[in-house]
Amino acid sequence: MDKLRIIGGQPLVGKIRISGAKNATLPLMAASLLTDGCLELSNVPNLVDVLSLQDLLRQHGVKINTAPEKLTMSLQAADIESTTAPYELVRKMRASIMVLGPLLARCGEARVSLPGGCAIGARPVNLHLEGLRALSAEIDISEGYIVAKAKKGLIGADYRFPLVSVTGTENIMMAACLARGTTRLFNAACEPEVVDLANCLKAMGAHIEGAGTAQICIQGVDKLNGASHAVLPDRIETGTYAIAAAITGGDLELLGTSESLLPTALPLLQESGVSIEPIPNGIRVKSLGQRPRRLKMMTQPFPGFATDLQAQFMALMAIAEGESHITESIFENRFMHVPELARMGADILIEGKTAYVKGVKGLKGAEVMATDLRASVCLVLAGLVAQGETVVQRVYHLDRGYEQLEQKLSACGANIERIKVA
Ligand code: UD1
Repeated sequence: MDKLRIIGGQPLVGKIRISGAKNATLPLMAASLLTDGCLELSNVPNLVDVLSLQDLLRQHGVKINTAPEKLTMSLQAADIESTTAPYELVRKMRASIMVLGPLLARCGEARVSLPGGCAIGARPVNLHLEGLRALSAEIDISEGYIVAKAKKGLIGADYRFPLVSVTGTENIMMAACLARGTTRLFNAACEPEVVDLANCLKAMGAHIEGAGTAQICIQGVDKLNGASHAVLPDRIETGTYAIAAAITGGDLELLGTSESLLPTALPLLQESGVSIEPIPNGIRVKSLGQRPRRLKMMTQPFPGFATDLQAQFMALMAIAEGESHITESIFENRFMHVPELARMGADILIEGKTAYVKGVKGLKGAEVMATDLRASVCLVLAGLVAQGETVVQRVYHLDRGYEQLEQKLSACGANIERIKVA
């Protein structure tokens, strides 16, 4: 398993191209199951999670062609060859659950492995199942698989999510596109990735209104067509590199992205003491040269502060002046990076859902590892500012969600290299 070696202390200065969003690409790829036409995606990130979903879709019968140098991918599900999503493929990535709605809507049946455990919490899929049941699907759990049937097709209905679920909203929205009649989703997720998926589905011929608000209305159609769609920029990657500029006292131009994707995180970052200004095709994040100021924040569904940026902000707060409070309200077990940051000299106390972070003057390099994607990148950020050498193990977590992380950082002056381990 590869490792990353970082020698901290270099302010990052330069330009970073922001990739297409992982969390938009995955549902967009699953949407290819809804049509026998060809879905052409552009601005597709080259990530391990994307490859994992390609493997799954191929065994369902989707023909996939990619041109990574052009960042494009075409997907065509002329015939569905299998409606089973097997455990060996689903267990690699929870987002595989998003084939359930499209397969059921198109074929009237689907058998999808339950994703199983996850490092950041129990992460059940009950809302995906409840939503599909509301659309008249019959669903059983048998031998670790979700067995879903809708022999006469899905029927549009009202469904209110008891709590906001991003992939839950995406799964039901996709299924509802081919259901008979009207579906109204209440308390739907408002994340930009939901809007991106809705825009692509509309280009495929779906009738969807209200995506980006808590109430989405979908008028079912008989058939969807192929379409072309450019994946929206990755707001979590944007936020991560914005924090990289802040934590290293640097000055980065983040290109191909937009301030509007991070309505809460960027103002928080400004409050901590950086300037953020729009530039043509992106944003510039520049440190004001002082120690970061403390912050209080709580993760919330969009437009609130994203849980996928919580760990990265904690790395910044670890060296801030004063005590910061970071409350995680979405996932129950998302402080796995805290003991690792502590090994680098951070002073953090967890009480219930809140981490009390007493900023220290500096971090020290150490050998660290993390058990999920965002926790891993938080350790990279800490390593960029720590004194001496930090070795981050289990780089495969980073490869799931950050395209060319070490190339992007080293091009801006970071001293970072991958150590290949056979
Ligand atoms: C998506 C993102 C992930 C992000 C998360 C929250 C993708 C591929 N992943 O994950 O990066 O961290 O949103 O912004 O887009 N829940 C249930 N039952 C369900 C579904 C969810 O109880 O059926 C709970 C979860 O355990 C969690 C909360 O709802 O506590 C929100 O989870 P959800 O929005 O569904 O996360 P994902 O869509 O899996």
